[in-house]
Amino acid sequence: MPMAAEGIYCATGYNGNGMMLGSIAGKILSDAVLGVRNKYKDLFRPSRVKPLDSFSELVKENADVAYHFIADRFGIHESDSLKRLKPGAGKVVEVDGKKIAAYRDDAGTIHALSPVCTHAGCIVGWNSEEKSWDCPCHGARFDIDGKVLTGPATRNLAKIENTDPQH
Ligand code: FES
Repeated sequence: MPMAAEGIYCATGYNGNGMMLGSIAGKILSDAVLGVRNKYKDLFRPSRVKPLDSFSELVKENADVAYHFIADRFGIHESDSLKRLKPGAGKVVEVDGKKIAAYRDDAGTIHALSPVCTHAGCIVGWNSEEKSWDCPCHGARFDIDGKVLTGPATRNLAKIENTDPQH
């Protein structure tokens, strides 16, 4: 979190963890403006990472995006059928050759969505702790009905109708 120019500060590189890191950045920046020492300042100082290290991180991060973009589409992850989905659980399953982000609620109803993230097209995964669909690429999150919870995605996941829960 450097001073970008006299009196101008910036914080970036949250990597999908803006709720937590943005709050920390706010505290570090307000302390910097007030001239108060902050024990986290050095931990988040941009120059702590050598250019070569940050380049390899950039390559790794984008390789992860490329991996998910391809692997998630070609079934490298295990698929399952809707009938094995337990109440309260969600999973990306394959039905008739199509991937579906399926969640079964406690009443047994299947909530079926397109698993293709509306940000840049990666395949979302089920987050059992938060009961949400989370994108592994840039951290977008969606609720069980596909509504955007957190960006960078701005459009909801598409609903899939006519999914037979007995399948
Ligand atoms: Fe970027 Fe999903 S592809 S958040």
